[in-house]
Amino acid sequence: MSTVLVANGPNLGRLGTREPEKYGSTTFDEIAALCMQWGSEVGLESVVRQTDDEAELVHWMHEAVDNGWHVVLNPAAFTHYSYALRDACALVTAAGLALMEIHLTNPHTREEFRHTSVISGVATGVIAGLGTDSYRLAIDAIGARA
Ligand code: DQA
Repeated sequence: MSTVLVANGPNLGRLGTREPEKYGSTTFDEIAALCMQWGSEVGLESVVRQTDDEAELVHWMHEAVDNGWHVVLNPAAFTHYSYALRDACALVTAAGLALMEIHLTNPHTREEFRHTSVISGVATGVIAGLGTDSYRLAIDAIGARA
């Protein structure tokens, strides 16, 4: 059975209470449970994690390469400036693994600094603006490829 790592960056642990008008009222724990369920529906084992720490996220990309895990990544604010995370994501796709960049909101409709993603250029695909469905569609896409 293939595994998907659903990795989440800074402040996403506050989902539910964090700017609910933008991010919705679903909590991170609820999203984690949904991702486990959506993964099992398409024959994937899911590992769902969140960190506020850039180095930890980089190390998780290394772990994905070493374990042969596909990745669904919401890089949160690191999307816009973390070259270290971009380089780690490039290792994932270079290893022949899928890496789907996802966002709850559509960053292109928001502040200018969110219009740049340093991750997209090394991602397999990008899904944004669909709320928790962004996670579901990314998991479905990986399930179809795995
Ligand atoms: C986000 C969009 C980012 O710009 C922001 O920094 C986040 C969440 C999203 O899921 O819409 O933290 O990645």
